[in-house]
Amino acid sequence: MYVCICKNVTDRQIRQAVYQQDVSNIRELRSCLGACDQCGKCARDAKEIIREAASERMMMETHAAMAS
Ligand code: FES
Repeated sequence: MYVCICKNVTDRQIRQAVYQQDVSNIRELRSCLGACDQCGKCARDAKEIIREAASERMMMETHAAMAS
């Protein structure tokens, strides 16, 4: 699903940026994918996706640490 229409950025791309490039806030997302730097209407949704993905990532890392 497209989150940032201005820059054609999807929720999947945002999640990948969190998982693979340590993106943790809008400023870093803007720098990484260019999202949220024009009209700004996507910022609230993008922020929520970053928060969810960061939480999922932390849970996966915790499970991996416990398994090793
Ligand atoms: S929809 Fe993301 S900057 Fe406009």
